[in-house]
Amino acid sequence: VEQLVQSKLVLLGEMGSGKTSLVQRFVRGQYFENQESTIGASFFTKTIPEKHVKFEIWDTAGQERYHSLAPMYYRGAAAAIVVYDITHPASFERAKKWVWELRQNVQNPSLIIALVGNKVDLAEEARQVPEADARTYAAETGLLYFETSAKADINVTALFDEVADKLPKA
Ligand code: GTP
Repeated sequence: VEQLVQSKLVLLGEMGSGKTSLVQRFVRGQYFENQESTIGASFFTKTIPEKHVKFEIWDTAGQERYHSLAPMYYRGAAAAIVVYDITHPASFERAKKWVWELRQNVQNPSLIIALVGNKVDLAEEARQVPEADARTYAAETGLLYFETSAKADINVTALFDEVADKLPKA
């Protein structure tokens, strides 16, 4: 029997980008139109048996007043998912700042960072961040890149599976 690898995973990103919704979709298969804003942070666990991975997930609060707490949640992380909203350019700029902060402060050279453009269900009517811009930035910066919808359940499983695949094997 192979051992489960326990991996600390943190979600960062602007308020309202959909961090909690992505986690709820992944962990419980649920989605809430009126998902409440996170206070501080929330903790979830989820095992992917086929990948022998148990994620210990910190879903942080995007409101700037909680920014100073973030290091507690990304310290020691194996992976970070940095979320922005494809309909909200400021959230893409905020995501870049999170990536920069992670690179400055996380010592782990094998930290996996995934950049995630969420709310892709709204792409046709409301996209404001071109996919090519985000993909280029992610490639230049060495990030995984996904466009997801927590609402429509697009690419959420693929995202967490890919992060699991990229984790260093114990
Ligand atoms: P904070 O906890 O404040 O940092 O926000 P968050 O990043 O966790 O966002 P949250 O998951 O609370 O979602 C914010 C709002 O966006 C909620 O009303 C969600 O229902 C909505 N939302 C989340 N994901 C999607 C999505 O994929 N598509 C659409 N259309 N709406 C979404």
